[in-house]
Amino acid sequence: MKNKISASILNADFSCLKDDVQSVLPLIDEIHCDIMDGHFVDNISFGAPVVEAVHQAFPGAVIDTHLMIDEPEKYRDDFVKAGSDILVFHYEATPHAYITLKRIREAGIQAGISVTPATEISLLEPLAPFLDRILIMTVEPGFGGQQFIPEMLPKIRKARALFGDIDIQVDGGINEKTLLEALKAGANVFVVGSYLFKSDDKSERAVKLRSLLD
Ligand code: DX5
Ligand code: ZN
Repeated sequence: MKNKISASILNADFSCLKDDVQSVLPLIDEIHCDIMDGHFVDNISFGAPVVEAVHQAFPGAVIDTHLMIDEPEKYRDDFVKAGSDILVFHYEATPHAYITLKRIREAGIQAGISVTPATEISLLEPLAPFLDRILIMTVEPGFGGQQFIPEMLPKIRKARALFGDIDIQVDGGINEKTLLEALKAGANVFVVGSYLFKSDDKSERAVKLRSLLD
C-alpha cells in the first residue's frame, strides 16, 4: 500500500488558505477537507463552496473530503460536484451507508466510511466490497488539535487484518510519534492538521513526515 499524507486544512489560516496549502502541497498526497454541521459534531466548519475553491486553486490536487454531518446521503452530491476525489462519511451518521457508497462510486470518485472511537470496526465487514477506504478516528471527531487516543491502535491492526489491501486512514492527533505508531499498526493514510498548519515552518514539518514514510 502506498503511504499517503492527507493535509487537513481545518487548522490552516483561512485568511491565506492558498498560501498555507501551497507551502505543503509538493510534499503531501491529498488535501483533507473536514465538513462539520453542528449536529453530528459540536462544531461548524465550512461547506462545499470552500471545497470547490480549493479545487479551483489546485486543480491537480487530490481532494479528500471527510463529512462529519448527519444525513450524508442528502449532501453527497454537492461535495462530488465541488471536486472531491474521495468522499468519506460517518457510519454513525446514516442508516443508508450501502446506497450512499454506491452513489458516490457511481459519480466516478472513491468512497469511504469513517468510524468514531466507539464504533467496532467489524461492523464495516458487510460493506467491504463497496469501500475504497476506511477512516479510523483517533480522536473524537469535531475539533483539530486533540490528543491521539492510543487505544485505537488495536483497532487499526484489526482493520488491516480484516480488510486487507484497502486504504486505512487515521485522523486526529497525528504527529511524528503517533504517525509511526499508526504506521506500524497498519495504517497507510495519515491525516495531519495542526502538526502541519500550526507550525511556523509548515514545509519543514511536511518534509519530516515524508521522510518517515518513504
Ligand atoms: C477532527 C478532524 C480532523 C482534524 C485533525 O474531527 O476530522 O481531520 O482536522 O486535526 P489534528 O491533526 O490537529 O488532530
Ligand atoms: Zn478529518
